[in-house]
Amino acid sequence: MSTDKNSKGLDDIVVTSSELTLIDGSSGKLSYCGYDISNLTSNCSFEEVIFLLWHGSLPSINELDNFKAKINQNRHIPPQLISLIRQSPKESSTMDLLRTCVSYLSSFDSDLLDTSSDSRMNASIKLLAKIPTILCYSERIRHNQELIEPNPDLDIAANFLYMLKGKLPDDSFTRIFDKCLIIHADHGLNASTFAARVTASTLSDVYSAITSAIGTLKGPLHGGANEAVMIMLNEIKKPENAQNYILDKLKKKDRIMGFGHRVYKTIDPRAVILCNMSKQLQSDYGGVLYDISMEIENIMDREKNLKPNVDFYAASVYTMLNIPSHLFTPIFAVSRISGWCAQILEQYVDNRLIRPRANYIGYKSRTFIPLKDR
Ligand code: ACO
Repeated sequence: MSTDKNSKGLDDIVVTSSELTLIDGSSGKLSYCGYDISNLTSNCSFEEVIFLLWHGSLPSINELDNFKAKINQNRHIPPQLISLIRQSPKESSTMDLLRTCVSYLSSFDSDLLDTSSDSRMNASIKLLAKIPTILCYSERIRHNQELIEPNPDLDIAANFLYMLKGKLPDDSFTRIFDKCLIIHADHGLNASTFAARVTASTLSDVYSAITSAIGTLKGPLHGGANEAVMIMLNEIKKPENAQNYILDKLKKKDRIMGFGHRVYKTIDPRAVILCNMSKQLQSDYGGVLYDISMEIENIMDREKNLKPNVDFYAASVYTMLNIPSHLFTPIFAVSRISGWCAQILEQYVDNRLIRPRANYIGYKSRTFIPLKDR
């Protein structure tokens, strides 16, 4: 057994083969099924990208229409789930509620025990379609607002913004939000995807795998970083405060959220796209969030040679789209459900139980002392 200390955190350990996402960490490139991320964000809708991840090729017009129709038909959630959301404490975390709701949803799937690829694909479509509804309902219930029914004429991005705000979204906001969903769709064996694959590798069901993934995404070292970035931007308030704030944190050995990455040794290409969006939104709608962010980026580069990751500019972009910060990580799940499902569908096709080992460093042999003598 390898006891190489570098395998702590599974750094650079290859555990499977995948046709989905290629990350070139040294040159900062990312592609899904061979298509560069910037090409996809410029030319595709989120639905086209999901289809690509789930089927390996971009859809024809007919295929896309059928795929969208299936998503639209599955957006409603059972009344029992709405009751559960209503009964949850209003102050509970949206990620906790989402994780619980996804787990509960499995009780309503009569095909749960069907292990065919069709049934698993159907479960993926149901989760993809229902997660936005769960989030919008939970947000509106939290604010004692009337629930907005899903609109079958709208795509995922527009429907999400519509159900959240209760009015049809501005086209430019919808397009930016759609690009954000594409950017976050898949990212190799990141922690939450790995968690989903581990669960699927036991031949557990799709709902269980996604429940594992949501619990993992929540952590501040992973998807939870975007909300933490916004808290930091709010504390800094203006660009000229950034220097003292960041230097103070670094002196205390605190981590600056939204910086660093296990795989990218140069800038995360998703951060580049989000940075441009943040700049554009600030120039269109005002504020200083982009300016503060740029200031932090420069300081982190100078002090630590660390570059921003996807979570850094997502914070200012979502805020300028009028999305509250406690929804940032849940929105990551609205997008990443596409990658999680693609990855577990791939896992099921060529499965082997994922079961690594630990290097035991505890006592080798101890003399047992009975309870009364300890
Ligand atoms: N701020 C300050 N120092 C940092 C940061 C940071 N954000 N990231 C890494 N470092 C430093 C560490 O302190 C460590 O320094 P040391 O060697 O002097 O102790 C060194 O860089 C290496 O850090 P590791 O934690 O070993 O690197 P790892 O590859 O495990 O880190 C991670 C990756 C967890 C993302 C890290 O960069 C981090 O904590 N970033 C902040 C949280 C964050 O933004 N997470 C989102 C990642 S993207 C995503 O999941 C969607």
